Amino acid sequence: MKKLSLFIALMVLASLAWTQMGPGMGSRTPQKIYPSPFSQEDGAKLTELIRIARGGQLYDNWWKTTVDTEKPQKDHPLWKEQSTNTRRGYDTFRCKECHGWDYRGKDGAYGKGSHYTGFKGVHEASLKMSLEELENITRGTERKEHDYTGYLADDDLADLAMFIKKGLIDTTRLISDEGKPTGGNSRTGSTLYRRNCTHMCHGVAGTAINFGDADNPEFVGTLANENPWEFMHKVRAGQPGTTMPSAIINEWSEKELLDLLAFSRTLPKDTSEMEIGWWRTFWGGFGHHRRMHEDYRPGSGRGFGPSLE
Ligand code: HEC
Repeated sequence: MKKLSLFIALMVLASLAWTQMGPGMGSRTPQKIYPSPFSQEDGAKLTELIRIARGGQLYDNWWKTTVDTEKPQKDHPLWKEQSTNTRRGYDTFRCKECHGWDYRGKDGAYGKGSHYTGFKGVHEASLKMSLEELENITRGTERKEHDYTGYLADDDLADLAMFIKKGLIDTTRLISDEGKPTGGNSRTGSTLYRRNCTHMCHGVAGTAINFGDADNPEFVGTLANENPWEFMHKVRAGQPGTTMPSAIINEWSEKELLDLLAFSRTLPKDTSEMEIGWWRTFWGGFGHHRRMHEDYRPGSGRGFGPSLE
């Protein structure tokens, strides 16, 4: 009798431990992040995810995502239709500059401030237009000033359409108009961060790669706090010209994205915070100390190359 109750007690404990781990932790082997060898069907799916992510990087910065394109020096032909955004040259050619990191153009975060152009977003087009219609937009069939064929190849335009059709998310579900996450668990986020972002790259404090410059440093924490839409876009698509992995390719859920954002907002935003905080202990300990994002991929800092890891 005693033995039996001990046995039952042990079973109860074991099952408790199992449920404590939850489906998330227990079954969340690194498989998603390091995909195991895939079948043909999975292969086709993976190819599509890679093209969607590549389209996202082209949307961010097509010159950096490609290796053989020419960088425009003049302003975009549509630029003269607005006077509020005073950027010049290549920046005016980046899809995100007119249509926004939240894909909502004038109705989103770029509805005010120095990036305001008054141009609409691509969110609506994503819902209404077919892949072919989306591609035609970048071929200038609707408006000749919107023709990118002089710069981008057919594959690039196809990947861009693929991203807009299949890769866009409704950012309002994740981020409020004020730029606050709509939820997210920073404890789960810290595990995701530690597993995917720390080693060899951003470091424990997110400060090992500086996206800005020495005077105006920009770290993971800076972006997560100041431009969560850009943060989300780059986490999902990856950073052009680097081997940063892509959450689109690795099929992260909205919850995982939110958890990561919630945690990343607790990281230091600038050097002063870093020097006084406990983060200092880790400064340079992991990741790539004081590396700039451009240095990430030895050589040009151009080309598409998010890894599956
Ligand atoms: C200089 C600003 C600018 C840039 C850069 C730009 N666009 Fe546009 N885009 C526009 C304007 C203006 C329209 C027309 C909006 C309208 O019909 O009111 C438009 C329309 C679109 C539409 C159709 C939206 C709709 O609902 O009708 C899509 C899709 C689109 N652009 C995708 C892109 C992509 C992809 C890139 C990058 C390769 C890009 N755009 C770069 C200004 C820009």
